Amino acid sequence: MSKKTTVAESRSPDAVGREVLLQGWVRTRRDSKAGFSFIELNDGSCFGNIQIIADADLPNYASDVKCLAAGCSVSVEGLIKASPGKGQATEVQATKLTLHGTADVKTYPLQKKRHSFEFLRTIAHLRTRTNTFGAIARVRNCVCNSIHQFFQERGFLYVNTPVITASDCEGAGEMFQVTTLTLDNVPKQAAAVDFAQDFFDQPSFLTVSGQLEAEIFACGLGKAYTFGPTFRAENSNTARHLAEFWMVEPEVAFCDLEGGMDLAEQLLRRIVADVLEHLHEDMEFFRKHIDKTVIKTLRHIIDNGFVRLSYTEAVESLQASGQQFEFPIEWGADLQSEHERYLTEHHFQCPVIVHDYPSAIKPFYMRLGDDGRTVRAMDVLVPTVGEIIGGSQREERLDVLATRMREQGIDPDNYWWYLDLRRYGTVPHSGFGLGLERLLQFITGMTNIRDVIPFPRTPGNVEF
Ligand code: 4AD
Ligand code: MG
Repeated sequence: MSKKTTVAESRSPDAVGREVLLQGWVRTRRDSKAGFSFIELNDGSCFGNIQIIADADLPNYASDVKCLAAGCSVSVEGLIKASPGKGQATEVQATKLTLHGTADVKTYPLQKKRHSFEFLRTIAHLRTRTNTFGAIARVRNCVCNSIHQFFQERGFLYVNTPVITASDCEGAGEMFQVTTLTLDNVPKQAAAVDFAQDFFDQPSFLTVSGQLEAEIFACGLGKAYTFGPTFRAENSNTARHLAEFWMVEPEVAFCDLEGGMDLAEQLLRRIVADVLEHLHEDMEFFRKHIDKTVIKTLRHIIDNGFVRLSYTEAVESLQASGQQFEFPIEWGADLQSEHERYLTEHHFQCPVIVHDYPSAIKPFYMRLGDDGRTVRAMDVLVPTVGEIIGGSQREERLDVLATRMREQGIDPDNYWWYLDLRRYGTVPHSGFGLGLERLLQFITGMTNIRDVIPFPRTPGNVEF
């Protein structure tokens, strides 16, 4: 058996007696009066560290071991023994220790036991070495894996949709423009920019959603999902908005809104169950140090259905609540985050799916309801975060779709290919978008979305 192993494997009681090689970063070193040292080592394979015992008779004890401090990188060969210490099953008696890289205690930023999340954002290149950000990285990885498994097991096709696009899926005009024109000397035709001289011969942007392209695949191959980065140039400095975030977007042919809501519930349940099953220690950390209620809330999701109610019913219960909202609610207005949180945190105390919103506040592609004033939209709202999923049944009727586009100031000719899906073999179909970082906030209890993405892009912040 190879000696090289991970901290995760070495911490199992089954590992006792194994000769191992461990490689990672020192968290702490303590020297005993009896003349040997304890080193806490972490390699990212799990939340916990392993304790290394380095005796003074190691040949480089004085030169290397005694210099070890937080941040140093080492290889350790040794024997795994049962540990007499509390809170750990095993420890490693070192037979050889190689110091790869030192970390100067005077300048290495991660000296304290606790740093503020604001400070850690300024050192995003080092924050992965902290307990919190190691745990977030593992949860994020587990969630992504779970998403792919969920869809693959159900026969969905994974499609890679473009990052650069000419269409604004959400019609909100919050797009980053992509250009190779020289900004301080933009070519003009009369007063307007001459896009014939730009790279794509027309204005182009970073995508806000892969939905329209996912629809192309669903309306020909049945079930598809796209999962990639999306970009929004909204100038929102909130704890729930990023300029670059990841979204998973399934799209299903021959599926109505109810089918879409069922799929959303099943997906969320599956992800939560996988995280709780595989990342015990990380989730315990979030429960203890970030949000005491987080595991209870997640368990509730697995065991119970989500409440579903129409937008009209939601407005009625908000109006009847007697609650003072900053933005008073009336039929026709979009739900603000205070309304969403009231519904999910106080009124129902569980995830809520609000459906059938007024058509005027939703994008062109949502299917017009029989009442003519609502669309078959749905938003999934969860406690503390609010909206984590937005989706709908899509408008599959060519004439209705073209009319809705014109009403919203969109030229149907620019979307001729999207209309072709309705012109040839149209089918009822539905889909949604789940914001990965909003979901991670919900799962970990982290209050700021900038702390659940490795390198947050927000107004004024693009350094790392
Ligand atoms: O509700 P949204 O805008 O829906 C769409 O983009 C649809 N085209 C999706 C679809 O039907 N295929 O965004 C979907 C989700 C939101 O519920 C939220 O979780 C997340 O994406 N989201 C953001 N996350 C972080 N920062 C932002 N600025 C976000 N905007 C949306
Ligand atoms: Mg939305």
